[in-house]
This record gives sequence, C-alpha cells and structure tokens, in this order.
Amino acid sequence: MALFRLAYISTSLLAGRSAARRGAALADILLMSRRNNEAVHVAGALLATESNFAQVLEGERADVETIYARIATDPRHKDLVLLLAGSLTAREFPQWSMAFIGPSHSADEAVQRVAGNLSATERGDRARHFVNFMRDMLMAHTP
Ligand SMILES: Cc1cc2nc3c(=O)[nH]c(=O)nc-3n(C[C@H](O)[C@H](O)[C@H](O)COP(=O)(O)O)c2cc1C
Repeated sequence: MALFRLAYISTSLLAGRSAARRGAALADILLMSRRNNEAVHVAGALLATESNFAQVLEGERADVETIYARIATDPRHKDLVLLLAGSLTAREFPQWSMAFIGPSHSADEAVQRVAGNLSATERGDRARHFVNFMRDMLMAHTP
C-alpha cells in the first residue's frame, strides 16, 4: 500500500458566526470526517483557529485525493493552499482518525508562518515544521 500525505491551509468562513454556531459547525465537520475517513483508513489532524483551518490527511493516495477534492469545494472555507503532498514511509498520525487542535495563540502563530506570500521552497520548509507542530500539539495532549 502506497502511503500518501497531504496538508493544506485555508481561510475559515465560520468567522462571522456566533461562537455557539461555530462550535456546532466544527463538531459537524469532525463527526463527518471521522466517519468518512475511518471507513478508508485515512487519518490526520484538523486545526481550527478563528480565521483559518489547516489539515493533514494520511492514507492511501486515491482515498486522500478523493477526500481532499470534496473538502476543497466545501463552502465553510475558501482559498485552500496546498502546503505539501507526497509519499510517506510511515504514518505520523497513526492514533487519530481525525484529531482536533483548537484555537490558541501558538496555533495562530503557526498558521501565520505558513500563510501569505512565500516562495515554493520557503513554503515547503515551513510546511514541514507546521506538520511537526501539529503532531507535537497532539503528543502533548495524549496521555
Ligand atoms: C476544514 C474542513 C475539513 C474537512 N475535513 C474532512 C475530512 O477529513 N473528511 C471528510 O470526509 N470530510 C471533511 N470535511 C467535510 C467535507 O467537506 C464534506 O462536507 C463531507 O465530506 C461530505 O460528506 P458526506 O458526503 O458523507 O455527506 C471537511 C470540511 C471542512 C470545512
């Protein structure tokens, strides 16, 4: 089985909603992601700040690409920027069908570092750091 990983960042369109409705929308996204991704053994993590989403998806290439194509047309976000896409030798998010990282100052900072106008090389380097940041955030909260 060829393992594949993809990561993107996007602009959230949930910002205009009340905190309660934003929370409900997020719960909805997570529920759907966990159900759909588990069925095809795709795992990863979703980070949500007030203004952005970022997500890592790992699994069989065709499955990851099908899921990404669906996510890309979701009206709850826009301006998706692909941070990285390529083959993997081992999963880095094996424990989670779709882990969740909520808003925090460090999440905002991490998003700012990979957002905006960057050269392809710069974005590639920073994307690698960003994925490590997401994994570290989860490790810190997993007993
Ligand atoms: C930021 C974001 C992340 C999402 N992540 C996933 C995901 O990992 N897997 C998934 O199946 N759907 C994800 N969705 C939801 C999809 O866009 C889409 O609504 C859903 O897959 C449709 O599922 P259904 O065909 O079972 O109704 C995400 C949506 C958003 C806005």
